[in-house]
Amino acid sequence: MKKALELIDIPENKTIALQKQRCQGQDNDFHSTSFREQNRLVLDITYMFDSPETTHLSRSDIEVLVPRVLKAHQMLLNDEGDIQDGSIPMTGWRDLPERIPPAHLAELKTMAREFTDRIDAFVSLGIGGSYLGLEATFKALTHQYFNQLNREDRGGAPEIYFLGQNTDPDYFRDTLDVLAHKRVGLNVISKSGTTLETAAAFRIMEQLLEKNLGKKAKDLVLVTTDRAKGALKSLATQKGYRTLIVPENIGGRFSILTDVGLFGLAMAKIDIAEFVAGFRHMRQVTLSGEFWQNPALVHAAVRYAAWQKGKKIEVVATNSTALYGVARWMEQLFPESEGQAGHGLWVSPGLYSEKLHANGQMVQAGERNLIETFLYLKESNNTLAIPPDNDNFDGLNYLALKHTDLNQINRQVIEGPAYAHFRGGVPNMSVEIPRRNAFNLGQLYYLMEQSVAISGYLFGHNPFIQPGVEAYKTALFALLGRPGYEEQADRMKAEQQKLTRIRIYG
Ligand code: PA5
Repeated sequence: MKKALELIDIPENKTIALQKQRCQGQDNDFHSTSFREQNRLVLDITYMFDSPETTHLSRSDIEVLVPRVLKAHQMLLNDEGDIQDGSIPMTGWRDLPERIPPAHLAELKTMAREFTDRIDAFVSLGIGGSYLGLEATFKALTHQYFNQLNREDRGGAPEIYFLGQNTDPDYFRDTLDVLAHKRVGLNVISKSGTTLETAAAFRIMEQLLEKNLGKKAKDLVLVTTDRAKGALKSLATQKGYRTLIVPENIGGRFSILTDVGLFGLAMAKIDIAEFVAGFRHMRQVTLSGEFWQNPALVHAAVRYAAWQKGKKIEVVATNSTALYGVARWMEQLFPESEGQAGHGLWVSPGLYSEKLHANGQMVQAGERNLIETFLYLKESNNTLAIPPDNDNFDGLNYLALKHTDLNQINRQVIEGPAYAHFRGGVPNMSVEIPRRNAFNLGQLYYLMEQSVAISGYLFGHNPFIQPGVEAYKTALFALLGRPGYEEQADRMKAEQQKLTRIRIYG
């Protein structure tokens, strides 16, 4: 008897096939009209209105906001208002899709190819905007067990890992075990060049490479940081590392279309030209001054109106494991931009059905302070048929007889909750994503970036800064004894001593 599982009657995995095709240069024809027609994102807000509960939203709540939203749109186009970090207007992301020269994309691809040839595993180090978008896009467009596939099935790409997004030593140490005995290349990404989590991870990895390779380690390190300033830039200059640039007028969470995202995506054999095209397409769409034809304006308005009505949490749920990282990217983009002066919606990422059997009860019938946004994948790369069964103990033959496959079921995993939650008093909307491809991801990111920028004007504060994040950093540096933080450390100690400790032992 054979012991190993064979995939009998299971079709080939299209995610692998697509990855191999891209590697062979057979990219999607994203310039063609038919491709663009088949890959239009749709924002469906039908269930945002008149949900049966007391604080429901009505269409008139949106209509009344239209003049303010249009004014915000115009201000954004003119780079007006509270949009600066220091003296720099942080809107470089807005026209970026039009400003990336094809030659730069070609250069990144060549760099990625050369780097790929020299390594087995690529480690991207970064946190927040220097991490989330890249990991989200990588996961959205590749095999879920990418690093466990053989190299041919990865389209020739190296294994890809992320470090520096936390300071968890066990996670780090476990990652080292899978990197051991492999040829490793690093890309450290930090705009400021001073972020503790990233810097600590980089120091460990850099020294490990140097212990292994001596001076040759230099050829396996890339640095992605500010063009001119910061500790990382100085280090790169001193050690002769190759550098990639984070533009000064683009903040971390808006930087996925810069070298921050593009290089790592090229390493994963994702078509970065198609990705740029998606951004460019949505930029065109969202230039429109017609409110109801501009999904970014509508998206910003419904979220803001919901907040005005007392909705404080936005569950961003997807039916695609691959897209869960995109929900996590939104968990950063919106709260880090909106969370000022007691304002903003908390974003809670979710994967359905999984989460429906966890916090679904709360969504259906808990406090009515929620809205829901679905990242609704319409067509997965693969599907699996539900086979008929003579005994039908599980009662699923009704699906088998109608040839209902997993992809069809997985669509209803959005359609069903959308209806049920609406009836239960949760206004919800869907961003319909036709397929998992770089064009659609690009569109989605640009749509959300535009929306959150408009949201900043509506809330009345700058969405491109995150002063609140500094508070935790100061406390952390004081606790760790960083020079210059002595006064803060003393103050913390004194304040903490005044507290009555309440510790309950088990
Ligand atoms: O959006 C942001 O600006 C932040 O999330 C940053 O990306 C994050 O703090 C990492 O910063 P840096 O790239 O400077 O290390």
